Amino acid sequence: MKIFITSAVAAATLFTGSLAYAQDDFSGQLKARQGQFRIMAINLGILGDMAKGETEYNAVAAQAAADTLVAVSMIQQAPMWPEGSDEMSIDGTRAQTTIWEQTDDFQSKWADFGSAAEAMQASAASGQDALGPLMGQVGGACKACHDDHRAPAD
Ligand code: HEC
Repeated sequence: MKIFITSAVAAATLFTGSLAYAQDDFSGQLKARQGQFRIMAINLGILGDMAKGETEYNAVAAQAAADTLVAVSMIQQAPMWPEGSDEMSIDGTRAQTTIWEQTDDFQSKWADFGSAAEAMQASAASGQDALGPLMGQVGGACKACHDDHRAPAD
């Protein structure tokens, strides 16, 4: 069945010239949402390394990383989390069914990340000392959601 759908989409692609709306395995949505998390991890890493003194504090770089976290927090999430794109239904994802069962909780945890990112944005350029507590806040928002809505790695 999956193979049939895939080739039907491939055939349709020849006519429309676009795979943007291929829905068979949600691969576009998975890449998009996992990619946003990679962007978040990279930028949180930059801030974390400065907080620990592993890289030299740089106000411009810290501000850019914090701005990026806020920018990602503003990406609308719903289109990247279609029903049926959980880890019980398809391969290649760690998204738990709880995301769709407790959508309010998932959305509020995403909003908590946004608030923490904004706090980071407001103070990231004010010096290395400010980064530690802010890191705790942002990292805590990541962890709270992972604990409840992300399946453990294989
Ligand atoms: C509201 C919930 C939520 C928040 C907040 C959240 N995550 Fe996640 N994260 C998830 C879920 C769910 C997945 C699994 C997505 C999938 O596999 O489809 C995930 C996956 C990831 C991944 C793996 C991406 C990949 O390549 O598969 C990384 C890295 C990650 N998150 C980092 C972070 C960081 C860093 C933060 C905080 C700055 C954060 N996340 C905040 C829910 C969240």
